Amino acid sequence: MKNILITGGAGFIGCHLTKELLAEGNYVICVDNFTLGNEENMSDFINDKNFKFIKEDVVNVDNVIKKLKNIKIDIIYHLAANSDIQKGGKNPQVDFHNTLETTYASLEIARTLNVKDYFFASTSAIYGDRKGELLKENLGNLGPISYYGASKLASESLISAYSYMNEMNVVIFRFPNVIGPNLTHGVIFDFTKKLKANPHKLQILGDGTQSKPYIYVKDLVEVILLMTKNIPNGVEIYNIGVEGSTSVTKIADIVCEEFGLENVEYEYTGGNVGWKGDVPKFKYDLSKIHSKGWKASHNSDESVKETVKHLSK
Ligand SMILES: NC(=O)c1ccc[n+]([C@@H]2O[C@H](COP(=O)([O-])OP(=O)(O)OC[C@H]3O[C@@H](n4cnc5c(N)ncnc54)[C@H](O)[C@@H]3O)[C@@H](O)[C@H]2O)c1
Repeated sequence: MKNILITGGAGFIGCHLTKELLAEGNYVICVDNFTLGNEENMSDFINDKNFKFIKEDVVNVDNVIKKLKNIKIDIIYHLAANSDIQKGGKNPQVDFHNTLETTYASLEIARTLNVKDYFFASTSAIYGDRKGELLKENLGNLGPISYYGASKLASESLISAYSYMNEMNVVIFRFPNVIGPNLTHGVIFDFTKKLKANPHKLQILGDGTQSKPYIYVKDLVEVILLMTKNIPNGVEIYNIGVEGSTSVTKIADIVCEEFGLENVEYEYTGGNVGWKGDVPKFKYDLSKIHSKGWKASHNSDESVKETVKHLSK
């Protein structure tokens, strides 16, 4: 049994991860300030005797440490970040605070409390737009094109230094798009909301050809648990992904079909990206994580269908 601190545990991925960490018999403390997460996401475990919730901005390091009340933490899963990429695009402060400063704060918590094991939720956005180049973990000259991607890449750099200076054992996962029950944002969330408001017309950002790999959240949680059991010294970085990718128009088709809607008029805003800073297409080299004996059980289209099926219930 481990004592685990998870930041962003009231969010979409965090609530699935917390549930599984509790199922494994761990004691889990979640810090979240409900920027985007909510209490409903935690309804399955909020009353679990092995769960403690701290409502706090992670950046307030002293408050977080005080509220931990001397519990010896074995591992930190740092998931808190801004995940509203478009909001961050309009105001760089959003990502500076919620994506970069939270990482610095979580590392300060680790340093102060002498926590050696650390997991970080990074992203494909750190690579920038590489125009179809196969993305390997050791690719150089990274040029993120969003404040979000830049804040995650800067976070990875801070983690590297903290790991070296404090002998920390770190796993960094560069997630692709993650979907599943309890979504708080993203294209499927957006389409579902719009179609509930108007089932005849659907506005689609860009020209609909943007195509990315989508991973089902349960597959992601499975590989997080697998790779954080015994973390080796230093920093290990993995691209995490699935077979195939799914275009935005195909997602719209799947949502309409699953919701039983026919003849929905698609209204494209145009251009090959959804918003400035969006990377329209990317492809991961997954050989490193596959060599560890893990492969996602759903491909990209299956992940989309499974998610939409769940949302339509
Ligand atoms: N969902 C994806 O497709 C995806 C892709 C790549 C990376 N990620 C990363 O995975 C992690 C989890 O993402 P998610 O999809 O669950 O997003 P989410 O928004 O649902 O979860 C993030 C959580 O962090 C909390 N949070 C934000 N700022 C905070 C702060 N200052 N203090 C305390 N809590 C704060 C939010 O309230 C939210 O509950 C994030 O780091 C995100 O960048 C997600």
